Amino acid sequence: MFPTVRPRRLRRHSKLRDLVRETTLTPNDLILPLFIRHGEGEEVPITSMPGHRQLTVDKLPQEIKEIESLGIPGVILFGIPEHKDAVGSDAYSDEGIIQQAVRAIKATGSDLLVITDVCFCEFTDHGHCGIINDKTGVMDVDNDATLEILQKEALSHAQAGADLIAPSGMMDGMIAALREVLDENDFSHLPIMSYAAKYSSGFYGPFRDAAESTPQFGDRATYQMDPANGNEALREVDLDVLEGADILMVKPALSYLDIIHRVKEAHPELPLAAYNVSGEYSMVKAAAANGWVDEQRVALEMLTSMKRAGADMILTYFSKDAARWLSD
Ligand code: PBG
Repeated sequence: MFPTVRPRRLRRHSKLRDLVRETTLTPNDLILPLFIRHGEGEEVPITSMPGHRQLTVDKLPQEIKEIESLGIPGVILFGIPEHKDAVGSDAYSDEGIIQQAVRAIKATGSDLLVITDVCFCEFTDHGHCGIINDKTGVMDVDNDATLEILQKEALSHAQAGADLIAPSGMMDGMIAALREVLDENDFSHLPIMSYAAKYSSGFYGPFRDAAESTPQFGDRATYQMDPANGNEALREVDLDVLEGADILMVKPALSYLDIIHRVKEAHPELPLAAYNVSGEYSMVKAAAANGWVDEQRVALEMLTSMKRAGADMILTYFSKDAARWLSD
């Protein structure tokens, strides 16, 4: 008799399919990015990311209530300051847009996890992730000068009440520098989620509109990773582990499922996050708007595949939609 092995037997009954399902996705896996703008009483739609908008601080309490009611455990904040300058000083000002937003969320009494993105690209007038100079003969982001302002930024986020900080600038020594400044200032309890393997990716396009952070010259290839490299991601990750990262992240997610898998295999002892970035979201939205794909189905399939690859949590613009779909 042929075939003797019949995998289809386990697929016949829907309840049996439920029992043998290997990967589950729940609202509890999701982190929602929010864009906070200066000003008052405004919601500015982000055209390239349907369903998302820049919110002013006074609009946050309402938004937070909705997010909590959906069972989403955390948010990550990105800021659009009123003034940008060469060193991104709003990023480390106690009156900066992020610091105000964190305090406003905490003032609601919500216990939502508040994560802050620690970077400079939204705050500098040139749009790069740190201080620019030509010390080495090439116009570039000065690694060690940037570490100093990153320390100021992280400390001021901690003082404002952030629960988890997420440095995304891909500077060398970044995690060690931040761990040091937090520990020296009574924040040894504050965890760091490192954007450990962050690629120089075209998939960030819509985010740069949303956060008004497109580089005014050049690109980020001297600090973010080459999409062609996989082994190098493990090197970046190992360094961050040694420097004390508490949670690792791979970004983007969809084109980097192999990296998610390899990082999880190399460091099963650490929680791993995947960032389902703006371009990945907007592609689905655009295709769905044209009737070319079933949005719910492909979005949940993408998120599930990130978990299957090894992610423990996912930062995604689909968080609210996915939480609704999953609870239906
Ligand atoms: C940098 C940062 C970026 C994103 C998150 N943090 C943009 C970049 O590196 O240009 C992109 C997220 C997305 O595309 O959804 N602060």
